[in-house]
Amino acid sequence: MRAVVYKEPFKVAVENVADPKILHPNDAIVRITSSCICGSDLHMYEGRTAAQPGIVFGHENMGVIEEVGAAVKERKVGDRVVMPFNVACGFCNNCLGGFTGFCTTVNPGFAGGAYGYVSMGPWVGGQAEFLQVPFADFNCLPLPAGTEHEAAFALLADIFPTGYHGAELAGVKPGESVAVFGAGPVGLMAAYSCLIRGAAEVYVVDHVKERLDMAESIGATPINYDTASPVDQIKELRGGSGVDKGIDAVGYQATKAGSSAVGGEQDEVPNIVLNQLIDVVNPTGALGIPGLYVPSDPGGVDANAARGALSLNFGQLFEKGLKLATGQCNVKQYNAQLRDLIISGKAKPDFVVSHEVSLDEGPDAYVKFDRREDGYTKVILHP
Ligand SMILES: NC(=O)c1ccc[n+]([C@@H]2O[C@H](COP(=O)([O-])OP(=O)(O)OC[C@H]3O[C@@H](n4cnc5c(N)ncnc54)[C@H](O)[C@@H]3O)[C@@H](O)[C@H]2O)c1
Ligand SMILES: [Zn+2]
Ligand SMILES: [Zn+2]
Repeated sequence: MRAVVYKEPFKVAVENVADPKILHPNDAIVRITSSCICGSDLHMYEGRTAAQPGIVFGHENMGVIEEVGAAVKERKVGDRVVMPFNVACGFCNNCLGGFTGFCTTVNPGFAGGAYGYVSMGPWVGGQAEFLQVPFADFNCLPLPAGTEHEAAFALLADIFPTGYHGAELAGVKPGESVAVFGAGPVGLMAAYSCLIRGAAEVYVVDHVKERLDMAESIGATPINYDTASPVDQIKELRGGSGVDKGIDAVGYQATKAGSSAVGGEQDEVPNIVLNQLIDVVNPTGALGIPGLYVPSDPGGVDANAARGALSLNFGQLFEKGLKLATGQCNVKQYNAQLRDLIISGKAKPDFVVSHEVSLDEGPDAYVKFDRREDGYTKVILHP
């Protein structure tokens, strides 16, 4: 089958790789209809992880079941399904607790597995024609048959639940004010989720015009951090006060004001967003941090950043009595409910999708998404 394969930093190619097979009676093979490119893929694409050439990318996968193993009971050939990016068993202690992002059986020696991602186990990515899905009854979320809501449902694999997770980690409640840093797909979904949860005011910080425009289109207040300190801008708009809650949807590749809007080589300050959140959130508030931080970064700006050790204004955090929560999203905690909001017409997360292209156009889409060119915000590949 054809698949998007990582070649070297800033280069992927569409190549022929082995077709996936049923290796265990609990497996299913899914024919991919949609697979999205994620900001998390860019960390590998830019050579900022330990990912080795040859890895097939793609953890945001949706399609139709082509084949099932003998032990798969609930899912059937022909079912339309979307898979959480987390590969999970359903029976380890973490899965039983709902923490499917930290499954201890699918990636021995590590808590957490995913398709097509470095350090996340042997699971081949789905930016390809077919995908092997283990524990298929657990990992396939069924969808209504047909082609309706294809783009919106594809976002259930990761960014819609992950954005919602950001709001959940921060404990966003009706009537609250929230600052979301990052207007990439995850930040936009976090802002959208805060609004779904009834937040009164949502500020979205970024410096990519098309992304800030999308934030404004859903009723959030865009804040361009190239113009002035985002903390000062938000406090000024709020008569000197900060906000109740804050969400980091940027992660360790955060850049300082004035650096180019192009991804990859820019002036990074890995702790800037965390410290700005500590500054902008009011005493007794909370920080939700779905943005990715890594324990090892080959391109870290200094020796500490290279081992994921960041300097935080912990004194200020303590003094303000702020709560802080982070980690991979446990997609299965939210995906069925968010699916039903899409079906009922109450959520339309696909406003974030800027481009839908063929698998063969994947390499070009990586270049443009990485450079945030031509309004590339969220890209779906169709094999
Ligand atoms: N926790 C999870 O389960 C999970 C899941 C998916 C993605 N992620 C992570 O979430 C983060 C966002 O993902 P994405 O797909 O939206 O990525 P993205 O790269 O498309 O978006 C990041 C955005 O942050 C902006 N940005 C950079 N520096 C900033 C700063 N100082 N202040 C404000 N904005 C700044 C960029 O301009 C960009 O628009 C990534 O780190 C990704 O790895 C985490
Ligand atoms: Zn993703
Ligand atoms: Zn498990």
